[in-house]
Amino acid sequence: MSDTKKLHVKTYGCQMNVYDSERMSEVLAPLGFEVTANSSEADLVILNTCHIREKAAEKVYSELGRLKADQREAKKAGRNAPDQKLAVAGCVAQAEGEEVFRRAPSVDLVFGPQSYHKLPEMVTKLYAQQTGERLRLIDTDFPVEDKFDSLPAPTRTDGPAAFLTIQEGCDKFCTFCVVPYTRGAEFSRPAASILDEAKALADLGVRELTLLGQNVNAYHGQSPTGGDWTLAQLIDALAEISGIERLRFTTSHPNDMTDDLYDAFANQSKLMPYLHLPVQAGSDKILDAMNRQHTAQSYREIIERLRKVRPDIAISGDFIVGFPGETKADFAETLRLATDIGYASAYSFKYSTRPGTPGAALGDQVPEAEKSERLAMLQELLNAQQVAFNQSTVGMTMPILFERKGRQEGQLLGRSPYMQSIHVEAPQRLLGQIVDVQVTHAKANSISGDVVMAAEAA
Ligand code: 5AD
Ligand code: SF4
Repeated sequence: MSDTKKLHVKTYGCQMNVYDSERMSEVLAPLGFEVTANSSEADLVILNTCHIREKAAEKVYSELGRLKADQREAKKAGRNAPDQKLAVAGCVAQAEGEEVFRRAPSVDLVFGPQSYHKLPEMVTKLYAQQTGERLRLIDTDFPVEDKFDSLPAPTRTDGPAAFLTIQEGCDKFCTFCVVPYTRGAEFSRPAASILDEAKALADLGVRELTLLGQNVNAYHGQSPTGGDWTLAQLIDALAEISGIERLRFTTSHPNDMTDDLYDAFANQSKLMPYLHLPVQAGSDKILDAMNRQHTAQSYREIIERLRKVRPDIAISGDFIVGFPGETKADFAETLRLATDIGYASAYSFKYSTRPGTPGAALGDQVPEAEKSERLAMLQELLNAQQVAFNQSTVGMTMPILFERKGRQEGQLLGRSPYMQSIHVEAPQRLLGQIVDVQVTHAKANSISGDVVMAAEAA
């Protein structure tokens, strides 16, 4: 298979899927696959899917239908459409396996999040089939160590901020969550391979790394000298890499907030003052039913301690409303907790029953209309908090990493240390640099400001 082929990867779900999609494109590049943003001209389309909520999972099937119709249309119109192959990757593939072929017979390849390093082999097989033969391949194995060992070093990046997976899977078994089943048991990559990848990214111009894991603060990977490192130790080592100016990590569990992480927020200047720490609910009864293994009070204490060591830290979180058994009084406790914490940003979702999770077997489901009402109330509160947070930064001067061009001519888009999106009128030569900007305006989802001075040369 030496001729050039076009590859289109569509990503759903979390940042880890974004990272995985990038890696998939990279492992397929040596086979002659070039990435295209246009699915209709692609020889191979990979849908990298998410199974976290029903809606996310269902999207995949409608997209598969759309791709099929697109192909039919092109053939009918006599357009020179490629003989497109379809692959379903990621968490739907892992959770549903063969079922994907039954529901979407046009799919040629199904592979889970732990087997995409074998893509070249699978794709070669697919293209080697005889005309008229209908080959379907599936790989949903869990050889997690293999994957990172066999992935090539990154050769390109999508701007100066990059994701780097350091940990995968989860052993916490929250009763609503599919992750322990789709991503498997908790696994930490050895630090040496993470440091190598970070160096390769820094050489490509990356200035900011977001360390990814479903339980990233539980990181306990092998250190280069033996023994294990905690996340805080890994962060200190990454901060030493020349070119790496900013570090973030996501997503965390309250019970894995180790003492040295607080120290890192206090002392490691490259660790950004922002933490995504999901709480899910404010009622201890619901937290218990969710098997979160923490209370609302212990969460409050964590935030208090963080704010003591890093007073400006911006807190983000996740919430689920309408978990089975959640009464109006339980929900009121969620509102109270959110009010007391004051989030800079937060994500909130209606509980979605996931097949195979313990939550699916619980009685006392909350009616859909009630869930919608609760979600609207919570989102109103969280949106107001986000606006208030953004407004509180007006007048401040802060270092902004310019990540890409804005939609308007002469505008650059960047991120503040607090993860805010910021639009700035700035010359293009500042792309990829960290520059002081004074914030002048705040909106619900972004801020804007003026360049004060270039804090750093290219
Ligand atoms: N229903 C609704 N939201 C969910 N999440 C995880 N599982 C479910 C579910 N079954 C949310 C949690 C988690 C985020 C990634 O998605 O808030 O933190
Ligand atoms: Fe979705 Fe979870 Fe899989 Fe990410 S790990 S894609 S959030 S199901």
